[in-house]
Amino acid sequence: MAGHEATVNVIGNGVLALLRHPGQWRRLVADPGLDATAVEELIRYDPPLQLFERTAVADTVVAGHPVPAGTKIAALLGAAARDPAVFARPDDLDVARRPNPHLGFGAGVHYCLGAPLARVEVAATLDALRRALPGMRLAAEPPRRPDFVMRGLRELRLSTC
Ligand code: HEM
Repeated sequence: MAGHEATVNVIGNGVLALLRHPGQWRRLVADPGLDATAVEELIRYDPPLQLFERTAVADTVVAGHPVPAGTKIAALLGAAARDPAVFARPDDLDVARRPNPHLGFGAGVHYCLGAPLARVEVAATLDALRRALPGMRLAAEPPRRPDFVMRGLRELRLSTC
């Protein structure tokens, strides 16, 4: 889950988002300086990890809702990524978006331990695609995995012409 699945599905979901927004892909092909902001935006736009659960260890209140000790709550990270109170035009893909305070790597004491590695992996993938397949296109509508928590694709078929 941590070291492999999340990164694989950021790449799948992210490349699909770029294929559906060819103008954004062309920007990225033309300007490798956008890789760092693009990585954050792809994680925000279609995050592979849609929810994480927490269990209250004591009675508490979250956003005005009482949460008794022992109750589980789910943080919907995917919904937070499209919060219009935080992001301007949240449904737009913008590879230069800055600032980008997404929660795709979680927050607080359990913030993703592998975030620095994941950022390098996704940026390296974008760079490899830029060099090898600058004209890539979607070859077929990709089937999604039926999972809810881990959002991703079964496969992503590309064509180069
Ligand atoms: C882009 C890819 C990745 C995403 C989107 C991602 C996302 C996340 C998220 C949301 C959490 C928080 C879980 C929680 O709050 O309970 C987390 C935790 C974690 N991630 Fe990642 N992750 C990615 C890649 C990686 C990689 C490559 C590694 C390891 C090489 C890794 C290792 C971990 C570990 C060990 C934790 C648990 C940290 C803790 O509980 O203290 N992740 N990740």
